[in-house]
Amino acid sequence: MSGAMGTHADASASGAPAAAPRADAGGAATPGAAAPALHVDRLGKRYGDFTALSDVTLTVPPGARHALIGPNGAGKTTLIDLLSGLARPSAGTIRLGDDDITALPAERRARLGIVRTFQVNALFPLLTPFEAASLAVAERQGLGRVWWRPLARYGAIADEAHEWLARFGLAAHARTPTAALPYGRQRLLEIVLALAARPRILLLDEPAAGIPAGESAGLFDALGALPADMTVLLIEHDMDLVFRFARRITVLAGGAVLADGTPADIAADARVQEAYLGTSVPAAARHG
Ligand SMILES: Nc1ncnc2c1ncn2[C@@H]1O[C@H](COP(=O)(O)OP(=O)(O)OP(=O)(O)O)[C@@H](O)[C@H]1O
Ligand SMILES: [Mg+2]
Repeated sequence: MSGAMGTHADASASGAPAAAPRADAGGAATPGAAAPALHVDRLGKRYGDFTALSDVTLTVPPGARHALIGPNGAGKTTLIDLLSGLARPSAGTIRLGDDDITALPAERRARLGIVRTFQVNALFPLLTPFEAASLAVAERQGLGRVWWRPLARYGAIADEAHEWLARFGLAAHARTPTAALPYGRQRLLEIVLALAARPRILLLDEPAAGIPAGESAGLFDALGALPADMTVLLIEHDMDLVFRFARRITVLAGGAVLADGTPADIAADARVQEAYLGTSVPAAARHG
């Protein structure tokens, strides 16, 4: 059901080449190229004596809308930490297409197109959304540490930053310090900044966490408008969001894969019901 949620006037749900407003000026993530699959093989992570993740095997194919769910402490964020390179696995391998990226540092993975957001937002509170978006675009273009480019180049960066913000309904907030934005807008900005990096693989860690119900529409629209060829792995506790978004769901519990399948499979799985004691599986799931 990709794109079914996208109702925002600014946001195309057509999956047109990348969610980027304009052609790239040379980003390393080869805009337009199909995202390779992400393969996780027998991945494990120990913190001292504690096993946070063990023996996790998973393939996330190109264009996936894949949700990762599970009780608190199940290891969901740990898995994204390992995929993004923030933490190193104790066992197993991670491949991007045919390439083994297990040993690559986070910045190399980002250049290969693996971009994540964080469970608790990681924005610069004093920057405005415009400044943050400009930095994200400049970084993607390899201008993050270059100050001597012709001014025109910066004009193009500013234009693109404005387009990103407008596209996700943040134009009116472009010059407001981020800390002063409603929390729902802050969380949305985080996704916009990730998109400005032109990810091929987007890892979202609980994007709806902390958003009041009345503010979640922008987020739902943004998720519905992600380009069809972008591979998306989403951690989320909000089951309505999960079952609206995902075409495949992996359930983690106690650091291991408890179940993996279509939303309908997962909704019908007795072990999952047990792991979520007291949580009702939404009606949407029962309709596939
Ligand atoms: N750096 C660390 N050092 C020690 N233990 C850690 C570390 N990071 C995570 N853990 C532990 O690993 C387990 C899995 O944590 P993780 O954050 O991956 O869970 P989660 O599934 O994302 O949970 P939540 O839904 O609450 O976000 C937890 O018991 C956690 O305390
Ligand atoms: Mg987590």
